[in-house]
Amino acid sequence: MTKILDPDLETVAKESTFERLKESCLMIIFGASGDLTKRLLIPALYNLECEGLLPEKFAILGTAKSDFTTETFQAKLSEDILEFGTREFDSKKWKNFVNRIHYVPCDIDDSSSYEAIGKLIKKLDDKYALQGNHLFYFAVSQLLFATISQHLFQAGLISRTEGWTRVILEKPFGNDLESALALNKSIHKYWHEDQVWRIDHYLGKETVQNILAFRFANGIFEPLWNRNYIDHIQFTSAEEVGVEGRISYYDKAGVVRDMMQNHMFQVLSYIAMEPPRSFNADAIRNSKLEVLKAIHRFEPEDVLTRTARGQYGPGQEHGKDVCGYREEAGIPPDSRAETFAALKLYIDNWRWQGVPIYLRSGKRLEKRATQITIQFKRAPHAIFRDTSVEKTRANRLIFNIQPNRGIEMIFEAKVPGPKMQLQPVHMNFEYQDAFDLANGTGYETLLHDCLTNDATLFPSSDLVETSWDIVQPILDVWGSLPPRGFPNYAAGSWGPDEAEKLMTNDGRRWKNP
Ligand code: BG6
Repeated sequence: MTKILDPDLETVAKESTFERLKESCLMIIFGASGDLTKRLLIPALYNLECEGLLPEKFAILGTAKSDFTTETFQAKLSEDILEFGTREFDSKKWKNFVNRIHYVPCDIDDSSSYEAIGKLIKKLDDKYALQGNHLFYFAVSQLLFATISQHLFQAGLISRTEGWTRVILEKPFGNDLESALALNKSIHKYWHEDQVWRIDHYLGKETVQNILAFRFANGIFEPLWNRNYIDHIQFTSAEEVGVEGRISYYDKAGVVRDMMQNHMFQVLSYIAMEPPRSFNADAIRNSKLEVLKAIHRFEPEDVLTRTARGQYGPGQEHGKDVCGYREEAGIPPDSRAETFAALKLYIDNWRWQGVPIYLRSGKRLEKRATQITIQFKRAPHAIFRDTSVEKTRANRLIFNIQPNRGIEMIFEAKVPGPKMQLQPVHMNFEYQDAFDLANGTGYETLLHDCLTNDATLFPSSDLVETSWDIVQPILDVWGSLPPRGFPNYAAGSWGPDEAEKLMTNDGRRWKNP
């Protein structure tokens, strides 16, 4: 008898990969009294604890300049979690978690601080039977990475014979190509590359990770994923918020450094990369690197024709008047920082030759939305020309990254009735309809992956450097040519006219989410 093979009946999922980690770990957070720790790290670790996803043997040592004791630090975190926790508070679980958090003050430049940290690490290793596995988290400015690393190295806390030692570095990683190269060089003096985990919180978003599942776990899209079928790609990452108090950083950075070089390029590499050999960290990171390397580098004259920059002026957000960027407290009245940018990129490879990729990102735009649209070419033959149909529209596939989370396919359908008329309709997948999506911080998966030594979602040094290499000509030209007409878009709009022109000059338009 012939055996009927129905692929739908095959078991697709192996057993759950989520289980309490056997490996133990002490996490040592530099910058423990800062914003990142209370808003994201502690809530994320607590969420992992509630899900039973932290190692059985796990403790945290916080350190910063502030003069907390372990008790006062625990008390502060217990207040913070009520404000920044993302799930319903469970006092029993919290107590069990917070009791394993310790604190020691530290002067980052003083080697005696590191001796004290070293002694406490030893004590906590023994107390919790942690097998010497240490995860450092540098939730501090990148300017301090090298100093802390040097002291840790001298105190014998990096190269050890027992357990593993890793370090997570927070963005920004460099301010330009030169500083990123220098930073990697100084980090590599003390750490091996496989000990270094550069965090990009966009890669922790489920909707971003799903791009890989969508592309490579479904057979029907990959054959269309190239210049033969795709007209262009557009990627919008829009924020409603303004600069929000991070004045000194943002005014030097601007949106290309803040959002594009890191988050948007990482996501774009998922959209455009070749299928990796396997779902393995090295294979995926290599495919990402290849596609970023293939992005056509901007010549200075390209910067004038293929980019647009903007800065918001006064306007309205949700019906309320808001001030312009230069009127924000602490911003110089003649600031040149761009709060909006749009770029047109090309990828020089067989798959993408000639397909324009438009990126735009900005603060104080009309709506918060991160969305990637793949616009396909129109149907090749106008069979409807002798009917009442005036034209057919191109199919579009839209990845909604946030705040809506899902995927839409837009295609033409016949309007019911005796006449042949077409109208675009949507086929929609919404995450919330299909899955239980816990409200998290976005850091949970990343921390969990680091604890399990899975580097897939962490950009390697060459990925970071290549991304800087792509934007460097833009930063150079913009740095040497003062912007004209800043502010050039009203808060609450979709950005400056120049960004519209980037599209309309090519006979296209932005699809506003
Ligand atoms: C950060 C930027 O990396 O990402 C911020 O520094 C930006 O300026 C933020 O607001 C956006 O993150 P999300 O997850 O809210 O889109």
